[in-house]
Amino acid sequence: MTNEPRFNDLFDQWAEDYDHAVSGGHPEYIEVFEGYADILKTVVESLSLPKGSVVMEFGVGTGNLSRLLLAAGYRVIGIEPSAAMREKAKSKLPDLELYEGHFLHVPDGLPPVDGIVSTYAFHHLTDDEKDRALRDFARRLRPGGRIVFADTVFRDEATKRAMQQEAEERGFHELALDLKREYYPVVERLESAFRQAGLTVCLKQLNRYVWLMVAEQRGGNPG
Ligand SMILES: C[S@@+](CC[C@H](N)C(=O)[O-])C[C@H]1O[C@@H](n2cnc3c(N)ncnc32)[C@H](O)[C@@H]1O
Repeated sequence: MTNEPRFNDLFDQWAEDYDHAVSGGHPEYIEVFEGYADILKTVVESLSLPKGSVVMEFGVGTGNLSRLLLAAGYRVIGIEPSAAMREKAKSKLPDLELYEGHFLHVPDGLPPVDGIVSTYAFHHLTDDEKDRALRDFARRLRPGGRIVFADTVFRDEATKRAMQQEAEERGFHELALDLKREYYPVVERLESAFRQAGLTVCLKQLNRYVWLMVAEQRGGNPG
């Protein structure tokens, strides 16, 4: 795979316990995953495409969003770099169409899509990589298509520093390290990345950490 993802070892190790963490089982991540089920539901509702539409999902993890997308009647093409996560998702959703790949490496031969979705994963890319990925997504979308992401985003750099400090002060060492090590964006930079890729985007905060991003090709038809 080109541009090998950086966090594969971490997610291979996390696959078994991940569903416990998202349901409040990891004390440091309770606020990050607060309202997790509703967040995934909001992503599916915001996609709002006709049944049978083709939706590509990046960073499938254990398949929780994929399950909702399939239930909504979409054809789901899942892309996930971690072998352990793929295995877990397949054990829960044996019929899921799932490929090894990542935001910057989509397997050859897949069709253009009506929707691109991802939850809790886009921050694995640096800002420059996010720019590249969004340009590629804009090309992959069929006319009228839509991108819907939910992920940790900070309102601005001051808020990001304050939340990093808060994690340290609360003794949340794993979360504090994560907030420094990965590439959590701020709103302004993210809006500019979507704009540069020829997309309009609306952002909305869903919990203390997670924001919803709904994007369309400029000149598209926001619903
Ligand atoms: C925190 S989990 C989120 C899983 C799932 N989307 C959810 O909302 O529960 C992040 C997932 O993104 C995957 N991931 C990491 N780097 C990635 C990349 N560069 N491209 C796509 N997925 C990536 C990880 O392997 C992991 O499965």
